[in-house]
Amino acid sequence: MSGSPLVFSGSSNRVLAEEIAKRLKVQLGKALVTKFKNEETRIEIQENVRGSEAFVVQSICKAPNGNGVNDAVMELLLMIDALRRASASRITAVIPYYGYAKQDKKTKGREPISAKVMANILKVTGAKRIVTMDLHAAQIQGFFDIPVDNLMAMPTLCNYLKKEGLYDDKIVVVSPDAGGVHRAELFAKRLSSSLAIVFKRRPEPDVNEVAEIVGDVEGKAAIIVDDMISTGGTLDKAAQAIRRRGATRVLTVATHGIFAGEAVEVLENSEIERIIVTNTIPFEDSASHPKFVQLSIAQTFADAILRITTNRSVSELFGDDLPAADLSFVPETAAVG
Ligand code: R5P
Repeated sequence: MSGSPLVFSGSSNRVLAEEIAKRLKVQLGKALVTKFKNEETRIEIQENVRGSEAFVVQSICKAPNGNGVNDAVMELLLMIDALRRASASRITAVIPYYGYAKQDKKTKGREPISAKVMANILKVTGAKRIVTMDLHAAQIQGFFDIPVDNLMAMPTLCNYLKKEGLYDDKIVVVSPDAGGVHRAELFAKRLSSSLAIVFKRRPEPDVNEVAEIVGDVEGKAAIIVDDMISTGGTLDKAAQAIRRRGATRVLTVATHGIFAGEAVEVLENSEIERIIVTNTIPFEDSASHPKFVQLSIAQTFADAILRITTNRSVSELFGDDLPAADLSFVPETAAVG
C-alpha cells in the first residue's frame, strides 16, 4: 500500500467526513455521488486509487440533501465496489452510525436480522474492515468475519460533562433501559458517580413505558446515557419518572441523534434540560434549538484511521489509563450546516 489514506464520502454525512479528512491533513477524495434520472444511485471515483488504503465515510442515516437511509446504504456499497474494481488495496467502511442495527435478532417468527444482512452485503461488496461507533449491540461485531473497530463516544461526552462540572457525587448516571446498563456503568466509572437503572417496557415498536427505577436519584442531577435517540420517547418517559423520584435536573447524552419524526419537539417539551449528542448523524439546525448540543467526534475517527494505517492499537484510544478528569480538553462543537 502506498501513501496517505484516501478518504471518500457519500452524501449522508459529508460535513463529518470533511472534518475527519481535515484532521488527517488530507483532502477528501474526488468522487461523483449522485443519482441517475431514474433515481438509481450513480457513483464515480474521480482519482487514481490503485494500491491505496481507502476509507469510505458514510453513516446509515438520512442525508441533508434529502436522500434516505436506503440511499446511504446503496452509496456506501457502490463506492466500495468502485474502489475495489479500481484496485484499491484495502477498503475500510467508516460507518459513524451503523443503521439497521435495531433488528439484531429475531424477537418473533418471520422477522429478518437486518444487522446481519448489512454485514453480509458489506463484506461481499469488498469492505475489508469496518470502523463504526457505539453499535446498538456490541455483538453485531460478530456478524462480520472481517475486523470491526467499534469506537466509543464516551471520552468526548464525559469530557464535556466534566467541563460542565457534572461529575462525582453531584450526579447520578442513569441507564434508560436494562440493555444500556454496561454503557452507563462505563460512564459512571469515568465520572466517579453512582448509577441508576430505568426498566422500560415496549408494548410495540417505537412506544415505551417506564416500569421501575432501581437506584437513588433524589437530590442529584441525573445524566441519562443512551446510544441513540430515535423518537425521543425513551428519554422523555425516563426523565419524567426520574424527576418524580426527586432528581433536581435531568440531562441526556447519546452518541447518535437520529431525531425521527417529532423527536426534537418531544424533547424540547420534555423535563430534559439539555440533550447532548455527537455528529455521527447530521443535525443541521441544531443551532436553532438551544436545548441541544452537538459535539464533534471527528478527532476520534481521524485518530482511529491514522492508527489503522500505521498498524497501531485502536483500543488504546479508549483505555482506562486515559486521563479520567481531563478538564483541559474541550470537545469542539460540531460544524453546523
Ligand atoms: C434502545 O434499546 C436504545 O438504546 C434506545 O433507548 C432507543 O432506541 C431509543 O429510541 P426512542 O428514542 O425511539 O425511544
